[in-house]
Amino acid sequence: MGRGTWMAAFGLAVVTIGATGNARAEDPPVPYPAGQLGEVVRLGETLVMETNEHPLSKPYVGNALRCTSCHLDGGKHPQAGSFLQTAAAYPAWSPREKRVITLEDRVLNCFMRSQNGVRPPNGSQVAVAITTYITWLSTGAAIEMNGKKPLGPNHVPALDLTKHETPDVERGKIFYQHQCADCHGEEGAGDIDNPPVWGEQSYNQGAGLSRVDKLASWLKVGMPLDDASLTAQEAIDVAAFINSHPRPAFDLKTHLPPAEKRGEYNGAAPE
Ligand code: HEC
Ligand code: HEC
Repeated sequence: MGRGTWMAAFGLAVVTIGATGNARAEDPPVPYPAGQLGEVVRLGETLVMETNEHPLSKPYVGNALRCTSCHLDGGKHPQAGSFLQTAAAYPAWSPREKRVITLEDRVLNCFMRSQNGVRPPNGSQVAVAITTYITWLSTGAAIEMNGKKPLGPNHVPALDLTKHETPDVERGKIFYQHQCADCHGEEGAGDIDNPPVWGEQSYNQGAGLSRVDKLASWLKVGMPLDDASLTAQEAIDVAAFINSHPRPAFDLKTHLPPAEKRGEYNGAAPE
């Protein structure tokens, strides 16, 4: 298949899935690269699917989540944490770090917050493999660096809470018990097949999903799994309910490796 055909197939797949709403992505119609590069793409894919268990990534993870817990289908989902075309937006300006950051930096920062772990070193096997995999999922996309935020073209914008009723935790609780507890558990702890949504094994307070507007927009396109069907108000209420429970605190110092192993962290160092 020529490069043009891949691009057409890729574009078509995204548009078709977008139009049908809740369908989940098939395997992207882009072949793995040949040789060692292809091996590293596959390693990155495995790390995204098995982040909390794989010996290369596990040392940097502090909870029971995997990248694919939120970047559904390993980032091949067209909306919920999509990695499709993401690499084309980097390097990007990051208001949080007040620096221009690379895709690799973005990957590493997700370890500290969403994975409640420690930032792996730049250039490590983990960093390179995951970044290579995400870049591969952008095959054919035209570079358009984001000068405002470190986010790709398929990210889901946070819901505008001012356009809806005030989040209602009680309503969210009832909704959770009916639509979510079967998989994620009454106590939010999940099980072997379903990740925890609050508590010590979940994302920390520095993670994007710890914000009600972000979690609500993600739930609207991602949950219930394979049947995303929430209205904006339902998503807001259940997001408020989930985030009303305790989860690990975020203190940047405890998520950065010791200075001599850190390289240059792309934000304000905490010392
Ligand atoms: C608890 C959920 C969660 C987990 C686990 C998680 N992330 Fe994320 N990640 C997010 C959210 C939310 C965003 C912001 C996306 C948005 O705004 O649409 C994000 C953004 C990103 C982005 C930038 C996407 C873009 O559009 O530019 C990258 C890259 C990324 N994450 C990589 C990872 C990697 C690699 C892992 C595993 C090591 C990981 N994330 C684990 C929730 C998570
Ligand atoms: C059929 C089982 C199922 C149902 C029902 C379901 N989920 Fe999930 N949910 C999952 C699975 C599985 C994942 C992780 C995705 C993966 O690994 O492929 C997930 C991921 C999540 C995540 C991100 C990861 C984390 O643990 O924080 C949140 C938040 C979440 N679900 C909330 C909800 C809410 C709210 C509902 C109800 C509206 C819901 N889920 C309904 C199975 C389910």
